[in-house]
Amino acid sequence: MDDLSAFVAGLPKCELHVHLEGTLEPELKLALAERNGVDIGQRTVEEVRATYRFDSLSSFLAVYYPAMDVLVTEQDFYDLARAYLERAAAQNVRYVEAFFDPQVHMNRGVPFEAVVRGYHRAVQDADRDLGVAGALIMCIVRDLPAESAAQALEAALPFKDLILGLGLDSDERGNPPVKFAEVFARAREEGLHLTMHCDVDQENSIEHIRQALEDIRVERLDHGTNVVEDPRLVRFVRERGIGLTCCPISNRFVTGDMKADLIARLLREGVRVTANSDDPAYFGGYVAENLVELARAAELTRSELVQLERNAFEIAWLPDDRRARYLAELESYAAG
Ligand code: ADE
Ligand code: ZN
Repeated sequence: MDDLSAFVAGLPKCELHVHLEGTLEPELKLALAERNGVDIGQRTVEEVRATYRFDSLSSFLAVYYPAMDVLVTEQDFYDLARAYLERAAAQNVRYVEAFFDPQVHMNRGVPFEAVVRGYHRAVQDADRDLGVAGALIMCIVRDLPAESAAQALEAALPFKDLILGLGLDSDERGNPPVKFAEVFARAREEGLHLTMHCDVDQENSIEHIRQALEDIRVERLDHGTNVVEDPRLVRFVRERGIGLTCCPISNRFVTGDMKADLIARLLREGVRVTANSDDPAYFGGYVAENLVELARAAELTRSELVQLERNAFEIAWLPDDRRARYLAELESYAAG
């Protein structure tokens, strides 16, 4: 292992942008397909991997959603989250806030309860036996109608104690943040934290970022790097300490460019940017690989790598005492 990889391996890390359904590695996909008698059309890991080819958000989503058919029972959701959390723990991720997409499962006839209970049990067990703590963020699938989003939120509210926040993901084209203004207002009333994807280089990127920040009043932006195009919005996020959960390796798949220089520029301007994995089973990099590749491409110093994790622990939706403990652990590592 080179020096940079070794430094990143030991760094106490916080992952704030990972889709649990995006952690479905080919091996587990095949095992779940067999367990549930689902014909996915492939029989070997190599055949599954060969389907993981995309060059845009929509071509990625066209592979990603059908793969979810293998997830049927509460135990399947548990196993998926458990496998991710084991990898995260092995990379010294200390805390994770993970997304999931209940509408996609509910539309296949899987009850919300099976999804959330399976994921939640995995998070609880990992806290106890892997040393990685976590929480769940339910995402609204933005290319489905606003009524579907409202129904999903209603289905989730009886399990509100198992969910930390509400996010917005999937295909951004033609699906602006304000489409979901009512659902997000309701979630806020119910005490949920709010975040939204503003994917990289989308049509009307800046207007979508503006809506998310000013109309919906999100606490974080997922991706959001196009904010650099509008100095007023850069000031807005910097002054309010709003975090950006960037995903360099994912950016390369979706746009052909990691956006490393933009992420570094925002970091150096004092915006709370972070580096995360998004859909690691599909994009081939967990959080450590994202940090290493970003650091190489943008020539980040060690103290800038530490700052990325400091940002992440600062913008995480953690109680103050736990945040302070993680930050102390980080500072102690940084001090060598
Ligand atoms: N769902 C899973 N990954 C996503 C991404 N990168 N953007 C939007 N929706 C997603
Ligand atoms: Zn994402």
